[in-house]
Amino acid sequence: MNDRFLRACRLEAVDATPVWFMRQAGRYMAEYRAMREKYTLLEICDRPEAAAEVTLQPVRAFGVDAAILFADILLPLVPMGIKLEFAKGEGPVIHNPVATAADVQALSLIDARDALHNVMEALSIVKREIAGKTPLIGFAGAPFTLAAYLIEGGSSRSFTKAKRMMYEAPEVWHALMDKLATVVSGYLVAQADAGADVVQLFDSWVGALSPEDYAEYAQPYSKRILDAVKKRGIPSIHFGTESATLLHLMSAAGGDVLGLDWRTDLEGGWNSVGKGKGVQGNLDPVVLFAPRPEIERRVKAILAKAANRNGHIFNLGHGILQQTPEDNVRAVVEMVHELSAR
Ligand code: CP3
Repeated sequence: MNDRFLRACRLEAVDATPVWFMRQAGRYMAEYRAMREKYTLLEICDRPEAAAEVTLQPVRAFGVDAAILFADILLPLVPMGIKLEFAKGEGPVIHNPVATAADVQALSLIDARDALHNVMEALSIVKREIAGKTPLIGFAGAPFTLAAYLIEGGSSRSFTKAKRMMYEAPEVWHALMDKLATVVSGYLVAQADAGADVVQLFDSWVGALSPEDYAEYAQPYSKRILDAVKKRGIPSIHFGTESATLLHLMSAAGGDVLGLDWRTDLEGGWNSVGKGKGVQGNLDPVVLFAPRPEIERRVKAILAKAANRNGHIFNLGHGILQQTPEDNVRAVVEMVHELSAR
């Protein structure tokens, strides 16, 4: 077993720094684009064999130290009663956004084990293929980020509708977050049971919140989920972006490893997280478009900040971008392993 990723999650010594990439399966890969000729994104997610195949593509192609299940953070919302579409060029669109107490009431409190059994089956297939070779990461969206999509109906810049609900109708907001926390806790525990070795909680839009609002409107729900995962006995990674001012609160909510985006200095960010935890990150995804010597200079800079301390997982500061050259992804994996060999 290549266990350097799992060892880093547990803050144990490693032979070299582990590396994987958020959104490592996707449109920048020719193999994935070929799959998308046949199926839509949601169709791939719904077909366990296809989802498993896409999960394995970057593992075979680049030798990353972990596989991440191919799915989407918005997937659990569908059996909850949400009409979701990935519109071309627009990102996700929700056709029946949540606005009122009745809308929250109408969302089904699903049991993810049944409602998302295709995801569980995809995990089992991947697990069978890579058992004893590469660790497998499961994931879910954090309640704040999911609620933001549910209320805004899609992506947003200012999150005006979501924040108005917090400020105008806090009881409706809290009822929604409570429901999401219950579903996501069950979903992640079910993923662990189906074979995920580690799970990552994506709070991608958390940086929209002030520390006070995060503490009141989001943190308790993320904490409930990360407590449930801890109780299940597997490590977790807690990720957000534009989260520099929130890291101490996110760390307090839970996670063995905290994700850092590229706007955060790795050393300073690790101090905010607390040295008893690991960190993951934090190369700017756009650096993968730079000339090779510039990529190497920046990979070295991150490794220098981490100083071979136990608990560093190399990753980007956010998801890999669509036009990223595949050769540069492979090169970064090799650089990280060579430059960090103990
Ligand atoms: O990491 C992986 O390889 C696993 C697969 C994965 C996807 N989405 C597949 C996907 C993961 C981990 C996600 C998480 C996700 N989805 C997040 C959190 C991570 C982040 O980037 O902040 C968010 C916010 C979403 C919601 C979402 N899904 C958006 C905003 C989009 C559109 C983005 C775009 O680039 O168009 C998606 C669609 C999506 N999910 C794609 C993939 C590969 C691209 C669409 C396609 O293939 O048609």
